[in-house]
Amino acid sequence: MAGRILPFGMALPVIQAPMAGGGSTPAMAVAVSQAGGLGFVAAGYRPATAVRDDIHAIREGTREPFGVNVFVPGPQPADRAADEAAVARYREELEPEAERYGVALPDNPAWDDDEFTQKIDLLVAERVPVAGFTFGCPPPEVVTRLHEAGSVVVITVSSPAEAVAAAEAGADALSVQGIGAGGHQTTFLPPPPSWEPPADLAELVSQVRQVVDLPLAAAGGIMDGAGIAAVLSAGAVAAQLGTAFLRCPESGAHPVHKAALVDPGFTETAFTRAFTGRTARGLANRFMAEHEASVPHCYPQVHHLTKGLRRASAEQGDPHGMNLWAGWNHRGIRDLPAARLVEVLIQETEAALA
Ligand SMILES: Cc1cc2nc3c(=O)[nH]c(=O)nc-3n(C[C@H](O)[C@H](O)[C@H](O)COP(=O)(O)O)c2cc1C
Repeated sequence: MAGRILPFGMALPVIQAPMAGGGSTPAMAVAVSQAGGLGFVAAGYRPATAVRDDIHAIREGTREPFGVNVFVPGPQPADRAADEAAVARYREELEPEAERYGVALPDNPAWDDDEFTQKIDLLVAERVPVAGFTFGCPPPEVVTRLHEAGSVVVITVSSPAEAVAAAEAGADALSVQGIGAGGHQTTFLPPPPSWEPPADLAELVSQVRQVVDLPLAAAGGIMDGAGIAAVLSAGAVAAQLGTAFLRCPESGAHPVHKAALVDPGFTETAFTRAFTGRTARGLANRFMAEHEASVPHCYPQVHHLTKGLRRASAEQGDPHGMNLWAGWNHRGIRDLPAARLVEVLIQETEAALA
């Protein structure tokens, strides 16, 4: 891959996606960054103090660049009472689930900002090489502080309109997320009525390239070198892979999730809001089928409401009551150590581009 210009000080055009909920770990980030890619850890759903420990653990393992990804909080509920009522109705619907898994559902789970301010203070204090954001654009003063601390700011976008907003917000690079991506969609602006997100990730990269002049990483459904080559040919500087790393020994994904990813019984992925209130792609299971129709648009309250249920389902070895985030090409997953996976991906990419 010599001669390619890469941002973030990476040697190879492979980014290991941040995966909140335990998927990505400091060990994974170290392995990937040491192998020449860019490793990421996820700050989402973790207290800032735990994220600090993650950063220190990475720095003990490598001097190479790495990233930390933060969730941008949405606005506080415009109508708190209406949201509370909607979540209470969903809570009632989930009572049989609570009984089934032997847990108590929290009363009135509250909106929160996932310690956004503390996490920004931490990223600035730690001078992290790459600060990534999803679910929105960080405010301008946050981008300024990160730039002053020497961080590269990456914002995840899922449409040309979001790409323009992220460029205006001061992003140094974008992660372009297609609809095949595992986990949550970043979506933070309503798409124009005439625009449909393309199924082909390379096409989305081309569309974004027409409206912004920033380095682009492409994410969503990439499992091999052919997928990486396709997005590089469309003008991305790197490919970002999440699901591909979920069965690496360094992955912190729950064993029930890891097993489901290769279980022939799970044939499809689908978008769902049933677990968190916000659209994400996962292996289609019973919980999604039964609750998709009635879940309110209340993130992160629904995430907090179902957290205990999902944990109990995992502990009881039942893949049907928990979120099994996965991209739509999950069947291409391989059981390889993260560093070896990067090596194989690069060999395949070189062969595909030759
Ligand atoms: C288990 C899981 C958790 C994820 N968590 C995050 C996250 O915390 N922050 C983020 O920006 N993206 C997150 N993503 C999305 C990835 O950044 C990326 O867009 C996606 O993994 C690409 O699709 P793929 O899984 O098919 O490779 C997550 C994806 C998965 C599979």
